[in-house]
Amino acid sequence: MTRRTHRDARWLVAVLALGLLLVGCGRNMAEQPKVGTLQPSPFFADGSGSRPLLEGTVSRERGGIDPVFFTGQDAGGLVTELPIELSYELLLRGQERYDIFCAMCHGYTGEGDGMIVRRGFPQPASFNEPRLLDASVGYYFSAMTNGFGRMYSYASRIPPEDRWAIAAYVKALQLSQNASIDDVPAEVRRALELGDSEGSLPR
Ligand code: HEC
Repeated sequence: MTRRTHRDARWLVAVLALGLLLVGCGRNMAEQPKVGTLQPSPFFADGSGSRPLLEGTVSRERGGIDPVFFTGQDAGGLVTELPIELSYELLLRGQERYDIFCAMCHGYTGEGDGMIVRRGFPQPASFNEPRLLDASVGYYFSAMTNGFGRMYSYASRIPPEDRWAIAAYVKALQLSQNASIDDVPAEVRRALELGDSEGSLPR
């Protein structure tokens, strides 16, 4: 054998060994025994694969510290006041989120005439009817959090601070739909009359 074929043979052995090693990996990692979400398991005495929280576990989410923020309710029922600070930015955020998550059914003015409804989805009540005008900000938060009849819950899609922003925006939207020019503060009225609805509004 020449020196060259020796080197080739060594390469061949190395490649074969590597191949064997890789084959040895198999699919054991992918196929190891495990319990899927909510599957039963004979391993635990209660037959459930899901384990209950340990006693005394405290949620580190904000709701663990402030249940009103998380549920929209206190001991007296649904809250009538926002548990976070109301600001112009919060309403803008609420408007943006409402337009993304709610307007396709509830409509941009809350009338319940969004595009999905016009295409045949059951029509929700108008936010501008007396019962819903009187409904508290906590009511809107709760409907989003828990779902309402045929409307599914938004708890997993919209974080609580955004649900509050939307609830606050819906209350503002209701005001806007039932307002007269007398409700507009004098300093902003002039801007509105001039058709300048953006530039001169106080922030
Ligand atoms: C896919 C369409 C759809 C979307 C999107 C939707 N809703 Fe609804 N919503 C409905 C329908 C339909 C009902 C009435 C359900 C029923 O009565 O069974 C409803 C009911 C409600 C109610 C209760 C009204 C009442 O009569 O007391 C509130 C409040 C509400 N929705 C708020 C929201 C908010 C806020 C959003 C956005 C985060 C949203 N919804 C997104 C369809 C929708």
